[in-house]
Amino acid sequence: MSTRRTFVAGATVAAAAPAARRTEPLALNQGRPAVSLPPDRHAALTKWPRFAAADQQAVLDLLENNRYYQEIPLLEQEEKQFLGVPFVKAHCNGTSALMSMFFALDLPPGSEILVPSYTASATIAPMRFFGLVPVFVDADPRTCCFDLHHARKVITPQTRAMVPQHAWGLPCDLDEMTAFCRERGLILCEDAAQSHGATLQGKPTGAWGAMGIFSYQTSKVLPAIEGGLGMYQKQEYFERAAAFGDYTLPATFPAGSPYRQYHDTGFGPKFRIHPLAAALARRQLAKHPATIQLVNRQVRQLNDRLLQLPGLSEQRRRKDMERVHWASNILFFDQAKAGFSKEALLKALQAEGVLAAAASYPEQHRFTLYREARWWHHAPRIPDVLPGCAEVNRKAIRLPLFTSEAPELIEQYAAAFEKVWAHRAELAKLS
Ligand SMILES: Cc1ncc(COP(=O)(O)O)c(C=O)c1O
Repeated sequence: MSTRRTFVAGATVAAAAPAARRTEPLALNQGRPAVSLPPDRHAALTKWPRFAAADQQAVLDLLENNRYYQEIPLLEQEEKQFLGVPFVKAHCNGTSALMSMFFALDLPPGSEILVPSYTASATIAPMRFFGLVPVFVDADPRTCCFDLHHARKVITPQTRAMVPQHAWGLPCDLDEMTAFCRERGLILCEDAAQSHGATLQGKPTGAWGAMGIFSYQTSKVLPAIEGGLGMYQKQEYFERAAAFGDYTLPATFPAGSPYRQYHDTGFGPKFRIHPLAAALARRQLAKHPATIQLVNRQVRQLNDRLLQLPGLSEQRRRKDMERVHWASNILFFDQAKAGFSKEALLKALQAEGVLAAAASYPEQHRFTLYREARWWHHAPRIPDVLPGCAEVNRKAIRLPLFTSEAPELIEQYAAAFEKVWAHRAELAKLS
């Protein structure tokens, strides 16, 4: 429903739009779509991942030279430098890095861990193997990230750790979380699967906690098709996590290590990264800052235009943060301020040729796995509703990221949005 206030604000935007664009009918109503780039060109400019000829050559060279397993310590050395951390271990994916992290925690069964509901199942589900108890925490609707205020309300004397997740590549308030964990005696573990390369106060996400994990899965900001990394501040955590997933490593630990004796068996799983994935990850890491810069610059160019439109906003970012963007450019759409519905918005944008979609993301606490006692030694603590998660899923929409230079497409996307907003009275009738 359009209110007088939203109508007046909309009139200002409409006045700013070039006359031709304003009078042009919506593509929904047989007008010319604002995005005129052919679909194959559109797909090429938003393609992800992008493996350049040199990346492909690195994989071929490794196949040829037979020194497969040397790739893994090389990747680990480069990641340690990139992140500025003492210990890392490359794993076969982010999920196995999380499994290893929960093993490395070595907490007594029944220990509670504060986890976000707005995350992938891998952040939480592996806890069931170690008798740990997930306690679901809401998302801050302004950021999609772990809501520390809610965490303060659900902590108990059994709580031992927390695992914030940097949603869509936006860092959580890690300084506040570090202080909270120190004050309450919790171990801070980060799920940085979506935020490799993002920083707070110049320090990378995934490097703030006692442990952290990253994913190199295909859609991620540093893709190697499949792969992951664990970060450990203490040798003890590193040795437990490494011994858990790779039986060859305990033999390399220093003589006094309590985990050296587990050479030849490890603790059961085999979780080391595939050397070809390690080769791909090394190539991506070498150009990671440039890739982040390219994607971020183009998101800014587009969003600086779009955020002029009433009802559109983006994840709140503190000035001391450098974010990355995982998979999508996430925007929040406030129907009351815009004066028409999200359904009408998406329909109109899609007709204009914009690759827009609703950004609904799983709320883990709703899934069956966490509700059936047979899968858990100690049942998860599940809330009835998490209003922050619900608000995010009500408001969020996603646009593609421009992964190579796309000035023409950015202009066409901005024009499509401005055209849609110029027709909001019409769209309000559809709502
Ligand atoms: C937040 C989060 N954590 C963990 C994972 C698991 O990573 P992987 O797919 O590499 O196992 C993902 C992957 O989607 C993720 O998004």
